[in-house]
Amino acid sequence: MENKITVREILSLKNKRKITMLTAYDYPIASLVDRAGIDMILVGDSLANVVLGLDSTTKVGMTEMLHHAKAVTRAVKQALVIGDMPYESYQINPEESVKNARRFIDEANCEAIKLEWFDRCLEVTKEIIKAGIPVMGHIGLTPQTADKLGGFKVQGKDAEAARRLIEEAQELEALGCFAIVLECVPDKIAGIITKKLKIPTIGIGAGINCDGQVLVINDMLGLFERYTPKFVKKYLNLSPLILKAIEDFKEEVIQQKFPAPEHSFSIKEEELKKL
Ligand code: KIV
Repeated sequence: MENKITVREILSLKNKRKITMLTAYDYPIASLVDRAGIDMILVGDSLANVVLGLDSTTKVGMTEMLHHAKAVTRAVKQALVIGDMPYESYQINPEESVKNARRFIDEANCEAIKLEWFDRCLEVTKEIIKAGIPVMGHIGLTPQTADKLGGFKVQGKDAEAARRLIEEAQELEALGCFAIVLECVPDKIAGIITKKLKIPTIGIGAGINCDGQVLVINDMLGLFERYTPKFVKKYLNLSPLILKAIEDFKEEVIQQKFPAPEHSFSIKEEELKKL
């Protein structure tokens, strides 16, 4: 497609203007995100929590991720679409991880994948990049392995932990990642990482100093009621609006106000008489 944003263009935006990224999981929302001119769309494994009602991102697999990624890429004309590697996709070995990464590209038409940091992350990232698939890294709070990080907590809060994050970011850059998500990292540490890297950092709960920002679309639209992390800004509160519309429909059906004549189809009187 002619106007598709490329990985190269994302790289070139560093130090020029801030980069925008939102998640999307289906055709109608992906279409709106794309029309708004957002640079990158992540088909995030947050799908588990905000769409499928699961209590952990580790509970979605390749089947669900590909199903939703296909719906998103059908809608998108411009944004770079990134498929999020689910927990199960890299459990077996690096070869299986590469195969799963390739499925996002070949079957779901994504342009890149995102991989959360885990103990064999560098090995797997290296193999996926070697296979010609662009990789976005993800460090800081990595929900798939949050239990190993002491839960859903801000990461890099002391000098040693911050130094580790800086090293992880540099290692991912050295392997050839085209961008790195920094999740729940103190703003000053995110700033240091951003300055040290040539590739863009995309923050979520990582302050203003990142090269770009990402939010989960259901959070920023007020369409996820179970909990709201501190870093979320709700640009809209859709849930009560949707609830009201559904209640209005229910009332109008019961009171026989809907459907009105303008929502109904008619037949000519003479045809009716023939019955
Ligand atoms: O799955 C997701 O939505 C993510 C973002 C929070 C970056 O990984």
